Amino acid sequence: MTNSELVYLNGELVPYGEAKISVEDRGFNFSDGIYEVIRVVGGNAFRIESHLDRFEGGARALEIELPLTRDGVHEAVLEAARANGVTEGTVYVQLSRGAAPRKHAFPEGARPTLVILARLFPGPAPEHFEKGVEVLTQPDLRWGYCEVKTVGLLPNVIAFQHARSEGCFEAILVRDGIVTEGSHSSTFCVRDGIVYTHPIDNILPSITRKYLIEAYRTEGVEVREVGVRIEEYRAADEILLAGTTTEVMPVVQVDGELVGSGRPGELTRLGMELYRRDLEAVRAGKAG
Ligand code: PDD
Repeated sequence: MTNSELVYLNGELVPYGEAKISVEDRGFNFSDGIYEVIRVVGGNAFRIESHLDRFEGGARALEIELPLTRDGVHEAVLEAARANGVTEGTVYVQLSRGAAPRKHAFPEGARPTLVILARLFPGPAPEHFEKGVEVLTQPDLRWGYCEVKTVGLLPNVIAFQHARSEGCFEAILVRDGIVTEGSHSSTFCVRDGIVYTHPIDNILPSITRKYLIEAYRTEGVEVREVGVRIEEYRAADEILLAGTTTEVMPVVQVDGELVGSGRPGELTRLGMELYRRDLEAVRAGKAG
């Protein structure tokens, strides 16, 4: 293995094969934990402050005590990346409530488990950006805590697996007839030059989504944060996905039907360009 040879585990860098946690870790027993996936470009952690904000917010929401300060988490992320030679990749950060005999109540005095893994990741395949991707609609069977980035991802995993087995790039989730987001990305559609995306109302407060909304508005493009019905998505001029590992990605088919012209649309390409520009600036060490 060329990366993640060393895993950050509770304050130490440990060889991958020796990084062990308890069989009663609550992340394992109850999905009682949170995570972040952070992109590393040119050795810099992309949008790190936003990730730290969300991570701290999630820990507060679940009343899990962060074992490190905000700066400490930032440093540990960079340390894990550096130790594994990951200058282009992702860093996965997971915090669970820790290990304790299996009882539902929050245990007293359990030490939270913090794990950080760095892996190489070159970004999505260029052909996906050029041609666009296919998505499959799936029911959004998640719960009421989607605004917290918990490790309880089984509904997302199942939805994505269905999409994957149909040869699709992503599943887009539909709740009460309204498109919420992807299994691991945010979704947008475009109609008559206006960009639409679901409001932050029981969906993940995606960092890429927030960025893209601001970037479009700066360019004078109108963005409406409203729920859009799946029928309107199907009839949209453009559909796009956004996320840390997805970047800004054109969608050209939904459930086997073409979207608009069947090619990446104009506002999608603008979003891709704006995002890329930012990524390149951080890669060159010019911004955070
Ligand atoms: N997923 N929506 C969901 C349900 C997600 O899991 C993600 C990210 C996003 C995009 O969020 P952001 O722009 O902050 O990456 C939206 C990560 C990458 C994952 O689970 O692998």
